[in-house]
Formats: sequence, C-alpha cells, structure tokens
Amino acid sequence: MTVDARDLPLDDTSTTALAERGLVYRRMANDGAEFDVFLPAVARGFLDEEPTAEQIAESRAALVNRRLTAVTDPHAADPGAPVATIDAWASEVTVDPERVLPMWAISGVTVAPTHRRRGIAAAMLGGELRTAAAAGFPLAGLTVTEATIYGRWGFSPAVFTADWRIDTRRAAWTGPTPTGRLEFVAREQVPERIAALHERVRRAQPGAVPAYPGQWRRVAGLRPGTENALRIRAVVYRDGEVDRGVLVYALADGGDDYTAHELRIHALVADGPDAHAALWRFAIEHDLVATVTASLRPVDDPVRWMISDQRAARVSVTDHGWLRVLDVPAVLAARTYARPLSVVFAVEDPLGLATGVWRLEAGAAGAAHVAAAVGEPDVRADVGALSSALLGGVRWSALAAAGRVRADAAVLAALDAAFAAAVTPTLDIWY
Ligand SMILES: CC(C)(COP(=O)(O)OP(=O)(O)OC[C@H]1O[C@@H](n2cnc3c(N)ncnc32)[C@H](O)[C@@H]1OP(=O)(O)O)[C@@H](O)C(=O)NCCC(=O)NCCS
Repeated sequence: MTVDARDLPLDDTSTTALAERGLVYRRMANDGAEFDVFLPAVARGFLDEEPTAEQIAESRAALVNRRLTAVTDPHAADPGAPVATIDAWASEVTVDPERVLPMWAISGVTVAPTHRRRGIAAAMLGGELRTAAAAGFPLAGLTVTEATIYGRWGFSPAVFTADWRIDTRRAAWTGPTPTGRLEFVAREQVPERIAALHERVRRAQPGAVPAYPGQWRRVAGLRPGTENALRIRAVVYRDGEVDRGVLVYALADGGDDYTAHELRIHALVADGPDAHAALWRFAIEHDLVATVTASLRPVDDPVRWMISDQRAARVSVTDHGWLRVLDVPAVLAARTYARPLSVVFAVEDPLGLATGVWRLEAGAAGAAHVAAAVGEPDVRADVGALSSALLGGVRWSALAAAGRVRADAAVLAALDAAFAAAVTPTLDIWY
C-alpha cells in the first residue's frame, strides 16, 4: 500500500461540524509561514517552550512526510494561527514476525486552552479516522500522553511496555558474556547506524512501528536545544563487521557520592540475544554507576533473568501502543493464529467504521480466512476491545472479565489460545 497521507482530501463531516462552530478546518503546509505557526501551536499544546527558529527548521525536516491539519478561528487576533493541531502519516505496525500492516499514525493532537471542550478534538479525531478508513488503512495507531482521551474514539492499549530501575549494587550480572566487540561511536553517527538496525528489528517484533525521520537525532541529542546533549554517549555491539546492537545512554551524577551515577538508557536496540545481553551487561557493570534506568522495554525483557537479584529491579508496566481497528476482516486475516479457531465476531463501533459481524476460520497452519457473516455471534466486542486483543498482548478473557467482551467461557478459552502471541508485542519508540 503506497498512500501519501498528504494527498488525501479533508473530511467533509468535520469541515461542516467545525464550520457550524465558526471555526475553519484546514490543511497546513509542511514548510513556509504555515509551518512556522503550526509548530509553536503544537509546542504550546504539549506545554513545551516556544520553539526557536533553529528548532522549527529541525522539526520541518522531521515532519516532512506528515499530513498537518489545523483548526483556525477567523475571529481570533491572528486568524492564521492554529487553535488546534493534529498530524498523521502512513506508517506500519508489525502484527506477526515479518508481517506488517499499514497503519494511520496520529500525533501532535492539541487544542488551545482558549478553545477547549468545544468538540474540536472530537472533530479532528473523527476526521482522521474517516480519512484513513476511506483510503483503505486497516488500523490507526498512536502513543498517548494522557490515557483518558482516546478510548471514546475506539483506540485502546494493545502494547504494554516496562520502565526499569535497577540498583546495580544489588544486581550482579549473571547473564551471558557474548564474544562480539563493544565500541564507542560519535553521537553524529548514531542516527544512521541505529536506523538501519531498527528497520531490521522492528519487522520481526509485533507491536513495533518504524521510526519517523529525525527520531534518532532526537535520541542522540542532536536536535538544537536538547538539554544535556553533551552527556549522551553511544556504543555499538559488533559481530564481525556487522552492527548487532546500539546503546544510547547518558550518565547523571549521583550528588555527593561519585560512585553513585545513574546510567539512563535512551535507546537499546538489539538484533538478537547476544547484542541484547552485551549491551545490558555494559550498562549494569558500568563503573561508578549505582542505578540503571530504561523505559519502553518489553514486559518480558529477559534481562530479568540476567541479574543475581530480581528484586534489585523495580519494573513498572504502562500502556504504550494504542491501536484502533478500521477494517475488521483485513486485520484479522493479517495475522497468524496459534491454534485452529472458528468463531463469529460482532464488533460495535460508535463511529460505525468497524461495525459488523464476521466469521474467522483459522486452520492448523495458522492462516485465517475472514468473511462477513450472519446469525448469532459467538463473541461481542467493542472496537477498542478488538484493537487491544489483536496482537495477542491482551487476553480476551481479561477483557471479558472487565465487561468489554461478551462470550462464553469455552469461546474465551479458544480465543485466548488462538490469539496468543509467539513474541510478546512491544514498542520501543514514542511517535
Ligand atoms: C486533550 C485535548 C486534545 C482535548 O481537546 P478538546 O477539544 O477540549 O476535546 P473535545 O471538546 O473534543 O472533547 C471530546 C470529549 O472528550 C472529553 N475529553 C476531552 N479532554 C479529555 C481529557 N483530557 N480526559 C478525558 N476526557 C477528555 C470531553 O469531555 C468530551 O467528552 P464528551 O464527548 O463526552 O462530551 C486538549 O485538551 C489538549 O490539547 N490537551 C493538551 C495536549 C494533549 O494532551 N494532547 C494529547 C496528546 S496524546
């Protein structure tokens, strides 16, 4: 699927809804004067400082592929400045190792505090979802700053990740000692080297999403105005001539105690278990460090089994990757199933985009056939529940216990067994 999100028209329903409130729904250019007012509006929405001209130039390059949409207020002192923003682009999400689905990625959702609670976010989100569905995207996705906002539009957490805090004075390394080489690389080299690696790794990792342009410059502290940029360092793990892993980190001092620095992992991308173990070992055994922190790690990161005292690690799990199914048969047929399954789903969607009844038949080889069905369904789910269960990171029985899914116990057991993920979904970036 090769769709450029920037080429698609604005949604009529949202244009009308906003016009009725005296507001203008419009596309904004990725450069020039429109971008110069778009980016500060996003920064304000996210409570950031006003961006400098240098930062705007950097973001212009990072957001070059995005479809930028704004709401403006013709009665405002500056009628060209956005009172609300949203951006979107054609991305992908891995659903099974080496199987990816097109995904409409959404970011930069802001509504000015002067214009809140007038239905602007509702119009913008509805507009994105209708546009994506009309263009044939089977899924939309986002990462959220606040978990209370997006459920009403059918988004739901599908990928959970863990934040780690390891007391390295208690946690001696007990994991493998791989034989490849570790080498420091200059920060300027990080984006290119990590990008190539991440592209390989994310295709094998359910839940993963490609990095956007500029992502690794951010991680490496190369964006203008990055705080403590000069503290950021990077090592690569090499196996022969090939990069197998990259660790980007920064050391923060531990106050009066020079032996108690904190090593903050900004990114740890590993292609295979050797690189994973070598990079974690580098962090945990680093001299003059008492604490290692990392975020966006898989919930079953095997590093737990590589330290002498598991209680030396505090691990907190959070929802991270949110999905929103737009095309039920396309998403159900895209993945493979761990067990044969024959089940009729009824999906309810307040926006009507995914509403319907479908039969899923999965054979012993794991492939599924999905077709519209009639008759009494075995499972009733809201679109958010389906979105959460899709990758196998959330069990149908848990959603049923919470009242989000209705099915009898035998059907739930069959669903849990068939949807179980061979690789736990994870997502290592914000987007
Ligand atoms: C969150 C935000 C986008 C909401 O915009 P808004 O235009 O005020 O929202 P709407 O008026 O369209 O509200 C739609 C519905 O969502 C609800 N809602 C809005 N913000 C909410 C929040 N933060 N938490 C829970 N519900 C929220 C509204 O009450 C309304 O509910 P209703 O349909 O039952 O009446 C806006 O407050 C904002 O810009 N926040 C700062 C930036 C941010 O957090 N962006 C999200 C990035 S992931």
